Amino acid sequence: MPVPQEFTRDYVEANSPADALLYTDFLNSGEPWKSMHANNPWLQAPDPSKPLEFGGDHYWDTTVGRKHPYWSQYTLPRLTKDINQLRADLREWGFCLIEDGLSGEQCRRFLERLVDQAEGERAAGVAYDTPTGQIINTLVNKGRCFSACIEQDPEGVQAGPVIEQIMNETLGQGWISHSFLAIGADPGCHPQGLHIDQAPLLPWMTSEAPALFNTMYIPQDVDEVNGGTLVIPGSHRVLMDAGSGGKIGQLPPTINLEAPAGTIMLFDGRLLHGTGANRSDKRRYVAVSSTVKPWMRSQENWVMSVSPEVLARASDKLKHRMGLQAVTYGATVEGFGLGGRGQVGDVTGDLVPFREAYDAGEYERVGELSAGSPESDLRKVYTVHAALERLRVARESGQEGKVGKSGGKRHVSSFP
Ligand SMILES: [Fe+2]
Repeated sequence: MPVPQEFTRDYVEANSPADALLYTDFLNSGEPWKSMHANNPWLQAPDPSKPLEFGGDHYWDTTVGRKHPYWSQYTLPRLTKDINQLRADLREWGFCLIEDGLSGEQCRRFLERLVDQAEGERAAGVAYDTPTGQIINTLVNKGRCFSACIEQDPEGVQAGPVIEQIMNETLGQGWISHSFLAIGADPGCHPQGLHIDQAPLLPWMTSEAPALFNTMYIPQDVDEVNGGTLVIPGSHRVLMDAGSGGKIGQLPPTINLEAPAGTIMLFDGRLLHGTGANRSDKRRYVAVSSTVKPWMRSQENWVMSVSPEVLARASDKLKHRMGLQAVTYGATVEGFGLGGRGQVGDVTGDLVPFREAYDAGEYERVGELSAGSPESDLRKVYTVHAALERLRVARESGQEGKVGKSGGKRHVSSFP
């Protein structure tokens, strides 16, 4: 029987004129970026093949808020430990500054480890260089001081409880880590183009709340000289007002972030920002921990990248934040985890046994089977079966809601 004509490529193409296509008005509109650049030509990113220019109307050629001719008239976010001030600054300006978010000792440890790691990656030939500087990726594997930040453990970040509270309010309980990386910007490096971090994840502008939220660790003083992060204060509200596919008019100017070492900047995933241009004679580090809704695909594929050593000592919180728990119908493994509640410690979506079995070389996936398959296939200890059995035992013993310590090998071999 020939394939029906309506299913042929030629027929489908002939019947897909531009005016018949679904949703493309919105999806291909290029907004709000098209109008934003048309109405603000000073937002044009520099040519990475040429040395960076100063002078002229460029978004990277600016100063800190208190020295800025436009912004000095406004009360922009200042350093504070007061959670209510932090909330107010986030609403109004899209960012806030936690004073002494890292203690002196935490800050020193954080910076030392970053510098050491960056040099180590250079020496090992795995330095990740970009026009903006050296990126040190996947910090969770590179020091306890970093994994403690993902958990907001006060041992690693003294303002942890404040950050966690604000993130729970902003993203809802059960959020996960998107990535945690540091940027070492050298003198002469180019600034990033101004962007919002949630844009690559969603085509819609979420007007009610952000879908991504950032925690930026500042382990050394930043200002207009060493390229403190560029932001347009309050730009999240301009984008919210424009809405999905909406147009942007003239924007206010950028400022460089000014903050002393130990500050933590929280910022909305809809705030226009970018790495600044470093005009000092020294490298400048900041580290950004991004977080997203638990059903979103994360920048870092943690399930692959987190090391077995880190996993072995990870708390329930850390495992959850690295996406090792399925939620509702996101990130299930062979169907396991469907209906997971997405809360820290919920065994219903616990994917760690799969990862442990994989690390041990013992992950048995269910492949092609029939009732007549060889006994060796029908009686195999499939990892998904073992995980379901473990869940059943947990439910019967009233331990559901608690992730137990498993160990892949022990787990698989204990299945009858
Ligand atoms: Fe960004």
